Amino acid sequence: MKTPSMIEAKKRTKNKVNILYNEYNITDDMKIGTNKTYHIKTYGCQMNEHDSEVIRAMLEDMGYTNNDTMEKADVIILNTCAIRENAHNKVFGMLGRIKHLREERPNIITCLCGCMAQEEIVVNEIKTKMKWVDLVFGTHNIHRFPILLNEVAKNKEQEIEVYSKEGDIIENLPYIRDNKYKSWINIMYGCDKFCTYCIVPYTRGKQRSRKHEDIILEVNNLIKDGVLEVTLLGQNVNAYGKDLYDDYRMENLLEDVAKTGIKRIKFVTSHPWDFTDNMIEIINKYDNILPFIHLPVQSGSNNILKLMGRRYTKESYLTLFNKMREGIKNISITTDIIVGFPNETDEDFEETLDLYNKCKFDLAYTFIYSPRVGTPAAKMKDNITEDEKKERLERLNKLVSKYALESNKKLLNKKVSVLIEGYSEKGNDMLMGYTDTNKLINVKGDKKNIGKIVNVKVTDAKTWSLNGEIID
Ligand code: 5AD
Ligand code: SF4
Repeated sequence: MKTPSMIEAKKRTKNKVNILYNEYNITDDMKIGTNKTYHIKTYGCQMNEHDSEVIRAMLEDMGYTNNDTMEKADVIILNTCAIRENAHNKVFGMLGRIKHLREERPNIITCLCGCMAQEEIVVNEIKTKMKWVDLVFGTHNIHRFPILLNEVAKNKEQEIEVYSKEGDIIENLPYIRDNKYKSWINIMYGCDKFCTYCIVPYTRGKQRSRKHEDIILEVNNLIKDGVLEVTLLGQNVNAYGKDLYDDYRMENLLEDVAKTGIKRIKFVTSHPWDFTDNMIEIINKYDNILPFIHLPVQSGSNNILKLMGRRYTKESYLTLFNKMREGIKNISITTDIIVGFPNETDEDFEETLDLYNKCKFDLAYTFIYSPRVGTPAAKMKDNITEDEKKERLERLNKLVSKYALESNKKLLNKKVSVLIEGYSEKGNDMLMGYTDTNKLINVKGDKKNIGKIVNVKVTDAKTWSLNGEIID
């Protein structure tokens, strides 16, 4: 049994990260899933979405098939998120439901993985109070899942294997894409920024970039498979390469990915600290790099930014923001903001609103601060009342809606480029897709356009989506 330790997880070593190409192998005795089904629940960020695609592929290699109904599945996997308390609560609620299920169907195998598996307190609770959770594995040893599942199926004993220290980079893991035309690509793992509120540097380990040759090979294979759009994934993509190369950085990678000819390239998430002027130049130079940047600001107050350990000021953020707005045609910029961080005064919060009014973001993801055990901010006094936090969130969200609608309205009657992904939830044979600026659009048009990038005239602009008609 290997269990996580937050103290160990914080330590960064100078140990070389090995890149391993032949770790994944499903032998015949591991094909235990014939006539059995699995169900995966994924919580949290895109990184987890993509990890679930890997887990799916492994299960299918073992012979299991997908079951849309959790209640009927033989193996249930919860791929968890640790970023805020409510993500935790959702998972514990789901574990409660699964416990009941097991009373009726004792042979269900329950697995928990993802960021919560990297937390000591969570794993201790599972070890002591939830003996019926069969398997816990962490974010650094996903490739070991088939071996662990096989052991659990045979031994019927709780298995916990979580590495505190980040593992190696494992190449050539399979994945089954949720989307035929779009794909996530991990370009790096982990994060070394240690923003004081954030648990990610502990749960995902130190920053490790993949080799650019491996990334480009993956893009080329995806192109062959009919993929039109890739999203380059990392906690902090602008720091790509710093841990691996002397002089190969995100701008070089972006340029090399652009040169593959893939139709659309996105990248998330950017940290303002590592965003260079060259990046702006490269984004402008290649039409296939989409004019969309997610640039979390977190707060508009310099006092709070300092307490958060964000390493920039409101002024330097604004300078970068304006450079992007002026430098990249039709750019759409979105952000993340936390309200109610310890010691955030009314004045600090007003500064955040002021920054928002200046930036008029296309969209923002807003959160109430949630203390995470083991992070520096969790030791600060959480001195803002719940009511105050909620009120601030509400005021901020009003601005978010206002500017989201404003930015969508600017597109009214304009021609936008859309990758049509499939049918819309709106019904009536409406199609749906995303614009090159990452806006959701419901589209009238022939279904033969599914899987194509087409021009659409925007006919209606709402707060969270657009409507349009295909024009060619
Ligand atoms: N509390 C609230 N929000 C958080 N985030 C990260 N950690 C916390 C926390 N402890 C938010 C940040 C980040 C986004 C992914 O989640 O805004 O950018
Ligand atoms: Fe967390 Fe900051 Fe790293 Fe983002 S950059 S994952 S907020 S520590």
